[in-house]
Amino acid sequence: MLREVDRFADAAALAPVLGDWSAGDGPLYRKLSAALVRAVDDGALGSGERLPSERELARVLAVSRATVVAAYDDLRDRGVVERRQGSGTRVNGRHRVRRSDGRVHGGQGTAIMQRLIDGPGSLISLGHAADGGLPEVADAVRDVAAHELDDLLADPGYHPRGLPGLRTAIAEHYTATGLPTTPDQVLVTAGAHQALVLLAEIYLRNASAVVVEAPSWSPCLDIFRQHGVRLIPVGLDDDGDDGIDVRALASALATGSPSLLYVMPSFHNPTGRLMSATRRRQVAELAARYEVAVVEDNAYEGSLLSTEVETMPAPLAAYAPASAEVVTVASLKGVWAGLRVGWMRGPVGVIERCARRKAMADLGSPLLDQAVAAKLVPQLGELRRSRSAVRRQQCAELERLLRETLPEWSWRTPDGGLSLWVRLPGDHSADVFAQLALRHGVEVIPGSAMDPTGGHDAYFRIPFLRPPEVLAELVARLASAWTELQRHGPREDLPLCPVV
Ligand SMILES: Cc1ncc(COP(=O)(O)O)c(C=O)c1O
Repeated sequence: MLREVDRFADAAALAPVLGDWSAGDGPLYRKLSAALVRAVDDGALGSGERLPSERELARVLAVSRATVVAAYDDLRDRGVVERRQGSGTRVNGRHRVRRSDGRVHGGQGTAIMQRLIDGPGSLISLGHAADGGLPEVADAVRDVAAHELDDLLADPGYHPRGLPGLRTAIAEHYTATGLPTTPDQVLVTAGAHQALVLLAEIYLRNASAVVVEAPSWSPCLDIFRQHGVRLIPVGLDDDGDDGIDVRALASALATGSPSLLYVMPSFHNPTGRLMSATRRRQVAELAARYEVAVVEDNAYEGSLLSTEVETMPAPLAAYAPASAEVVTVASLKGVWAGLRVGWMRGPVGVIERCARRKAMADLGSPLLDQAVAAKLVPQLGELRRSRSAVRRQQCAELERLLRETLPEWSWRTPDGGLSLWVRLPGDHSADVFAQLALRHGVEVIPGSAMDPTGGHDAYFRIPFLRPPEVLAELVARLASAWTELQRHGPREDLPLCPVV
């Protein structure tokens, strides 16, 4: 067990706390010392906290050791750290901490959240994958304004479970796709994200563990971590064709005493894989046998690439035995994330418990947004079909650019989703690459942030939802960062040289 003050002695743990520390003008060592001061002032680095060795921090941040030495010397001169032979560099307990700017610190998942809060600036951020709204959103807004406004305004406006018309539309959508559903099995939430937050609140009280796919969606891992639970990672099949590895899952359920299993059948983020119907059945049966609740997150189900709407399996809940407890989470992310409309579909008891929490959180989502969503949900099948041709083109364009510019990188064309899951060759680490990419104007979230064990560190995700000229600029920036990494080598112990 790590002592509290040794959490960030590991350079890989410290790097996400420093965020985009190297962005902007000025010498690197100054920017590094400034980022460390910010982390102390924010409380991310506490009094007495040990900092990584110079050599290790230099390696992970892809800078020369001289840069870290100069940054640590600067911090010592300003009284922020103490440096002692034998005990390394520690935050000075006597340093007067300034008021925090309230930035979000923690893991890479929280770095993604901080990027959303800050906005991308001049960086091309690979932290999130979302598109602008489809034209059908504008049609739905006009339709609501023309025909439903008076009725809506006559309503006092509080519906913590969701607008009745929208809950009915969602229930009909599931029934039509092979999962019979009644409106009382549906809770409308502020995006799929809020559904996951509410479910974590009800399932993880007094819980000790959650089984997650490795890799997984890092913000959700952070939601789970906030409840102090252990994350038990289970990999995907070697060829990734079917989904989560069922043998490893059976063993994790049997030995790990989890309260929850979190999976992304349609489609897995970040790999873009679609879980087969057979695998859905196997997973549901295993969960029922070990009495573990399942949350299936289908936030990406609207983003088909190599799969056709007709061959999409029904949600995992449709394959579950009666004794299984499966909650299905989805949203209108594929239509427009900006609507912030999502939902969960599950047993009535679970929905009721989450509805109470939703009422406490926000008294219910805005009615106008939900009225617009109620117009869009019946069109989901058609919207998926019409969008998939565009998505395929965008994906193919990124693949073409990468093949031409970075032929040594590898990936598999995804079944769905909005990004490529790219592997760097050899023993190159995406953690180190991310540091260099930042200095070339691209925010890369390394695969290690998406795996509770820190594995998959040769991988990272490249969303393809960008106009061709931006994709070309993105790949050019990645290529120049890659050239620099290759020049220095992934693990090279750089000699002490002039500060850069
Ligand atoms: C797997 C996964 N679940 C949930 C969400 C959150 O979706 P929403 O925008 O509907 O809150 C995302 C967003 O990217 C996601 O990737």
